[in-house]
Amino acid sequence: MMSGKLITVDDFEQHAKRFLKKSVFDYYRSGSENQETLADNVAAFSRWRLYPRVLRDVSVTDLSTTILGQKVSMPICVGATAMQRMAHPEGEVATVRACRSMGTGMMLSSWATSSIEEVAEAAAGSPCWMQLYIYKDRNLTKSLVQRAERMGYKGIFLTVDTPYLGRRLDDVRNKFQLPPHLRMKNFETEDLAFSSKKGYGDNSGLAVYVSQAIDASIKWDDIEWLKGLTSLPIVAKGILRADDAKEAVRRGVSGILVSNHGARQLDGVPATIDVLQEIVAAVEGKVEVYLDGGVRKGTDVLKALALGARAVFIGRPVLWGLAYQGEDGVKEVLDILREEFKLAMALTGCCSVNEIGKSLVRESRFSSKM
Ligand SMILES: Cc1cc2nc3c(=O)[nH]c(=O)nc-3n(C[C@H](O)[C@H](O)[C@H](O)COP(=O)(O)O)c2cc1C
Repeated sequence: MMSGKLITVDDFEQHAKRFLKKSVFDYYRSGSENQETLADNVAAFSRWRLYPRVLRDVSVTDLSTTILGQKVSMPICVGATAMQRMAHPEGEVATVRACRSMGTGMMLSSWATSSIEEVAEAAAGSPCWMQLYIYKDRNLTKSLVQRAERMGYKGIFLTVDTPYLGRRLDDVRNKFQLPPHLRMKNFETEDLAFSSKKGYGDNSGLAVYVSQAIDASIKWDDIEWLKGLTSLPIVAKGILRADDAKEAVRRGVSGILVSNHGARQLDGVPATIDVLQEIVAAVEGKVEVYLDGGVRKGTDVLKALALGARAVFIGRPVLWGLAYQGEDGVKEVLDILREEFKLAMALTGCCSVNEIGKSLVRESRFSSKM
């Protein structure tokens, strides 16, 4: 492979592995601990089988949908991944430009290497959402939310699975930190910007950063606190249980992102596709439910929608696209997923995303561990 054109998301990963600095590739690719969940996020999709409907005139298909009321050209959006300028000098700005030209939305990480304002300007009106970590410094947290609101972001995705950073062994071994020319762009002090000038000792620098800066005491009441700071809709990112999903709805979120953080937090949790159905059932249609984790193919998107997700977010594939060719590389990755999803819709007899229902998938009785 690799000699010809890159035609699948996996091709882009292989390319990135060859061209990115090892510590950067490791940071992007890793899951936590033994990476059981990392493998399962992908493998679980192939335990679901498709049951296509035929003879339904699929000559015209419409992939568009809405997320929190914002129109997107397809139910495939870009999730929050930190520190994108390690993959390409234009980082998050390149990513948002690619999203804009594909007509889809982007979630910006609190730990971006581009600022909230730079990304909003490059987005030029295409939908952006802000991913939020709650810092021990609540005024700082408040200012992130207010900057995002002022710049026209359309929602806050509050990450609820990271009171501490998961133990990512490669990052511990590599003593991962940002290269000296980069910083987390939304913060002023060296400490908060995760600057390599600071020095993080003999561990994953990011794990040390999180333990110093991020508030491990956050609890359900903080959703009310957050709602008091902004009129933007709040989405809980990182829910894996039906009871937590119900609680989040009770606390007034507008959406739930079923996520295990790309298998980077607690190892041994289920693949997201395997818990989606029970979470969709628990929220009883009261809020939108999205999924991320292991989405690498158009059929993965179709399976997630069939099991009740309104849309999916992709993490690593975007980084592989950025590493390949910046904005154009991300566009290529999004285009591959779009074309694969469109084909999967047509071959299962669906002309619009509303027609993607539960009857299209069943859990396979045969284990297909790859
Ligand atoms: C390199 C990397 C950085 C990430 N940074 C963040 C982050 O800053 N905030 C966050 O909430 N999630 C973060 N995530 C998790 C993603 O938002 C998302 O849940 C995950 O990547 C989806 O899985 P996938 O990579 O298999 O598509 C990160 C994931 C990766 C791979």
